[in-house]
Amino acid sequence: PSARRAPEGGLIQVDSETTVYENGGIKARFTDRGANVVKAADGKLKVTKTERTFEFFTKTNVGRVGLLLVGIGGNNGTTVVATNLANKHGISWNTKDGEQQPNYIGSLVRASTVSLGTDEAGKPVNVPISDMLPMVHPNDFVIGGWDISSLPLDKAMARGKVLDYDLQRQLFPYMENIKPLPSIYYPDFIAANQADRADNLIPGEDKQAHLEQIRKDIRDFKTKNELDNVVVLWTANTERYAEIIPGVNDTAENLLNSIKTSHEEVSPSTIFAVASILEGSPFINGSPQNTFVPGCIELAEEKKAFIGGDDFKSGQTKVKSVIAEFLVNAGIKPLSIASYNHLGNNDGKNLSSQRQFRSKEISKSSVVDDMVAANPVLYKTAADLSKETGEPVKKGEHPDHIVVIKYVPAVGDSKRAIDEYYSELLMGGRNVMNIFNECEDSLLATPLIFDLAILADLLTRVSYREVPKDGQAGEFQPLYSVLSLLSYMLKAPLVKPGTDVVNSLNRQRQGLEQFLKACLGLENQGDLLLDSRIW
Ligand code: NAI
Repeated sequence: PSARRAPEGGLIQVDSETTVYENGGIKARFTDRGANVVKAADGKLKVTKTERTFEFFTKTNVGRVGLLLVGIGGNNGTTVVATNLANKHGISWNTKDGEQQPNYIGSLVRASTVSLGTDEAGKPVNVPISDMLPMVHPNDFVIGGWDISSLPLDKAMARGKVLDYDLQRQLFPYMENIKPLPSIYYPDFIAANQADRADNLIPGEDKQAHLEQIRKDIRDFKTKNELDNVVVLWTANTERYAEIIPGVNDTAENLLNSIKTSHEEVSPSTIFAVASILEGSPFINGSPQNTFVPGCIELAEEKKAFIGGDDFKSGQTKVKSVIAEFLVNAGIKPLSIASYNHLGNNDGKNLSSQRQFRSKEISKSSVVDDMVAANPVLYKTAADLSKETGEPVKKGEHPDHIVVIKYVPAVGDSKRAIDEYYSELLMGGRNVMNIFNECEDSLLATPLIFDLAILADLLTRVSYREVPKDGQAGEFQPLYSVLSLLSYMLKAPLVKPGTDVVNSLNRQRQGLEQFLKACLGLENQGDLLLDSRIW
């Protein structure tokens, strides 16, 4: 089912003078139109139209792409490998409901569509996101990775208890020879209850030597498999937060020095990020900890390398960002959001430790911030509150928001999440809405991992230049280092410092869709649907 391949150069051919197919790529001109708003002295909002013109160049040869997973022996890691192999080899299996075929359901790129335009009859033509631009097919990823647990992947997959036995059984011969590369283990960063897994370690305490080894692993993987690009992705245990200490991890130079002197606040995930940056491999953090300390972001900027994070947005948070947006956009005022989870996989075990839970709590907490801040009709702004109290107030009014996570081994990978939304209605009325969400955690996270890797690889092949109104366009250059276009898949999206985080799932999807269209030189048609509004 997944064997469909887009033709070289992509399925879509845009017929326009400003979209040209040359030099192994698609060169497209795009004008970004916006509006600049100034509040005048008389209280009026003065709006001026703005526009900036860009050219995007997307290299169409996808080449061979590798995916290196940190934590490959975990539930997500083994499910990613199993899904890739089952799809690649067309392995179907029997369940009590009958025969099941492998697929990529849950993948934004492979299983969702966007409207490209309308046909002659005025009907929308919807295409899978994977057909918008040339992207690597997830069957084609060459996958490898590290784990602090030495279990070969057949046994690690069985330990995870995620997939049906009849599928596991058929995958064992493919997976028994895949052994995780030894990894970095600094016990202080993950829960103490993980110690008995840690039997596959790069020896010694020297962090510089660890960095060199990871760099060598990436290089060797690339050479051995003749890869054009390698995406590195952290799907290992959630770490505690690293303390941000001036002189230690605040600048690129200080961070590199702290690795040289093996400073205790440099986490394993930051070493992996630094190694990837130095090797020119995009690095994505699928866990909530602050891997990207300021020095790490600065290093990525300096090297023009790509990073993305943090924390896969698989279940509860995804739903929450939709429900909260629905309420606030409907003009209803959430007063509190109370979230409770229990799960029984190894992730849950690790999160049962306070400092690791704290990382998750922070990441889950910010998810409604932008929607609340966008509606000063419902929520008082910091300026309103300052006026009321006469004291400077930093943050505006916000619904109460609490997150609880409990470890219940019996339920395994099947996570339960309960969310209560308590809102204010017209004339002081109240509304309570409860959502009970039960899902296989790793079956939600796995398609996100493919999406993140596919899009990260694509974005390394896109370059741009601005075309000034009067004057010469400069040289093409890569996109900015922090790939905020990956936000749809991430709970606490990392964005360019100084720019606002977008948490709204709908806006995140729109942002990505519009970007992909811009790379083809296409305007976003949106939902104006003028044909249906006019005579
Ligand atoms: P898991 O505990 O099954 O797998 C993590 C793996 O990482 C384990 O095999 C462990 O041995 C390994 N590991 C720990 N430290 C390591 C290191 N320094 N180097 C290499 N390997 C190391 O967890 P799972 O369920 O696969 O989740 C992975 C991560 O993804 C967790 O941090 C989790 O919070 C995050 N995540 C998962 C979501 C989901 O829906 N499954 C959603 C959001 C985030």
